[in-house]
Amino acid sequence: MTEPARVQRGLEEVVALESRICFIDGKLGRLIYRGYDIRDLAAKATFEEVAHLLWYGRLPNVRELADLKGRLGDLRRLPDPFLRTIEALPADASPMDVLRTAVSALALYEPAETKPGATAIAGAERLTAALPSILGTFHRRRRGLPALRPRPELSQAAYVLYAILDRDASELEERALDVALILHADHELNASTFAARVTASTLSDLYSSVTSAIGALKGPLHGGANERAIELAEQIGTPDRADAIVKEKLARHERIMGFGHRVYKVEDPRATILREWSRKIGEAKGDLHYYEVLERVKEIVHQEKGLYPNLDLYSGSVYTPIGIPHDLFTPLFAVSRVSGWTAHILEEYEDLRLIRPTAQYIGPTDLAWTPIANRT
Ligand code: ACO
Repeated sequence: MTEPARVQRGLEEVVALESRICFIDGKLGRLIYRGYDIRDLAAKATFEEVAHLLWYGRLPNVRELADLKGRLGDLRRLPDPFLRTIEALPADASPMDVLRTAVSALALYEPAETKPGATAIAGAERLTAALPSILGTFHRRRRGLPALRPRPELSQAAYVLYAILDRDASELEERALDVALILHADHELNASTFAARVTASTLSDLYSSVTSAIGALKGPLHGGANERAIELAEQIGTPDRADAIVKEKLARHERIMGFGHRVYKVEDPRATILREWSRKIGEAKGDLHYYEVLERVKEIVHQEKGLYPNLDLYSGSVYTPIGIPHDLFTPLFAVSRVSGWTAHILEEYEDLRLIRPTAQYIGPTDLAWTPIANRT
């Protein structure tokens, strides 16, 4: 018998493919999109520029950016029969389930791209424009708000906020969301991007691949952690209560959502940037309590477990003061990450190799067949 291969549980540290899209240095806490440091992008770029960077491999010039914004604006209008499908979904459904179902349904109205090149990039743009419209349509109907207008003149961040809040965002709110969208846009082979690439690697289409990704993002160990992190901050309420509540959870071996990371061994650089936005938004709204509670939680978790915050710790403390409901946090992650998912799917189509690892079989092999009448 051959020597059993060493199983890397969770594929930890397995290098599964080559990519030109995103680089993470987990020891130095660096994140790079196509050569650009996330700190520069978060300080200087817009989400649309980052999406262009991810899809086309370079930052857009003035004309290219205006063209991309124009296309994204036009693509916000979705087919009427499709909108009726979203409106027919149960109003109490989870928005993440709605998003997954809607992306799958949208494929019925649009070309199924399975090739690299211009038509696939057009598909990436269609999906990136569609996600805010899907979320906005569903959210507005469940809240009894007026129907969503596509508003092509708005940036992606301003459109998302208008769709959810039914009002125009302030400059600060728009920039806060723009930065959050930039920070969530890509993250190498995270679970949802891997799911997208696995599906694409079978030569399945863009919509099926993104549907797989949304399913993977939903889990609380991945994108779902942001909703749990704000729930904890709300349960704690004031910084002086953090010690007892967090230590009790740790004593019960519960995970504190928004902490730890498979790749980062230091603080997630996205968390550092979003923490600053949590403070800025808190100051602007005259309510720093989320920021202050999370500061205390951060100290305790580091002191008790040596763990650092990840991006999911802070997104809710930026979104909640703006008025975004908790159950839209993970969908907002998808609204941004769809740009990265589609960039990875396009890369997969360019250098296609079916992703199909093997398992170390640990079950029996030579059982004798038992007729059904003799089975206990
Ligand atoms: N709270 C408490 N303990 C933790 C946490 C946490 N958030 N994260 C890791 N640990 C502990 C584990 O219990 C384990 O301890 P042990 O060795 O004593 O059993 C040790 O740290 C290692 O944990 P693993 O689960 O092996 O680490 P892994 O790399 O598999 O996990 C993960 C990474 C899933 C992100 C984990 O840190 C976690 O569950 N965090 C909470 C969920 C979360 O915030 N997810 C968002 C990730 S970032 C993103 O998706 C944008």
